Amino acid sequence: MDKGKPLDGKTALVFGVASDTSIAWAIAKELSARGAKIVLGYQFRYHSRIKDLAPTLPNLVAFERCDMLKDDECEKFFGNLKTPVDIVVHAIAFAPATAFQGRLIDTTQDDFTTALQVSAHSLVKLMKYAKPHMKNGGSAMTLTYLGGVRVCANYKLMGVAKAALEAYVRELAADLGPDGIRVNAISAGPIKTLAAGGIPEFDLMLDYNKAVAPLRENVSQGDVANCAAFLASDDSKMMTGQTLYVDAGYSILGVPPLS
Ligand SMILES: NC(=O)c1ccc[n+]([C@@H]2O[C@H](COP(=O)([O-])OP(=O)(O)OC[C@H]3O[C@@H](n4cnc5c(N)ncnc54)[C@H](O)[C@@H]3O)[C@@H](O)[C@H]2O)c1
Repeated sequence: MDKGKPLDGKTALVFGVASDTSIAWAIAKELSARGAKIVLGYQFRYHSRIKDLAPTLPNLVAFERCDMLKDDECEKFFGNLKTPVDIVVHAIAFAPATAFQGRLIDTTQDDFTTALQVSAHSLVKLMKYAKPHMKNGGSAMTLTYLGGVRVCANYKLMGVAKAALEAYVRELAADLGPDGIRVNAISAGPIKTLAAGGIPEFDLMLDYNKAVAPLRENVSQGDVANCAAFLASDDSKMMTGQTLYVDAGYSILGVPPLS
């Protein structure tokens, strides 16, 4: 095996590309650069962008619409899938705008259901569909944020969704381990993307993270993609059920620098 192409011969399903700023896009590019073939699943509302973006990806096999809330699209996407799957990337999250306004105590049951279905349960749904294509085992990963374990300003209901997602990662790792399928999460520091644009005061958060994180830098999509490539490869073959922090060390802080 060419050591420069550790993912040669592997196929990755990547969900969550909405634009060239998406973390999923950086991951798709990195996995492709390391030799993996890529199949993209995307939400049709982003079709006008994806139709131009996807074909620029080396090793692209296909890009097809697949809204995780629409069973007919999921059935069609996985029905059309002909190659065995080795890697699954879940970079999907959504909460209605109302979930980021007002007080947490006013969270509606509808917003809770939507946020948890899209941002947490979609991982289980995705793995249910992907598993029959992963007869040789493989590596699945999702994207989470510190708000799943700590209170982070303005994150509110999404913190609850990420907590559920991280619990799902552990439970899925235990459930799918005997099938040779690993499941991990990457907890990324804040990065300016479309989804991040929905979080109030996000630019202030970027400035604050950069000022106090031990490495005094904000992370990039590429930094996360490198960790994803590690999780996709056999270099991490005995790791499952873990949440890995790619956040310039922000998550270790108790009292950030005071001056
Ligand atoms: N940007 C950050 O600061 C940051 C930090 C930590 C974790 N994350 C996580 O990274 C992941 C990717 O987000 P991003 O920041 O790249 O933003 P993004 O807006 O580029 O990606 C979010 C994706 O979720 C997809 N999505 C939403 N609902 C869907 C559905 N019903 N079916 C299928 N796909 C659906 C969207 O189509 C989009 O591609 C998310 O889980 C997000 O919470 C982001």
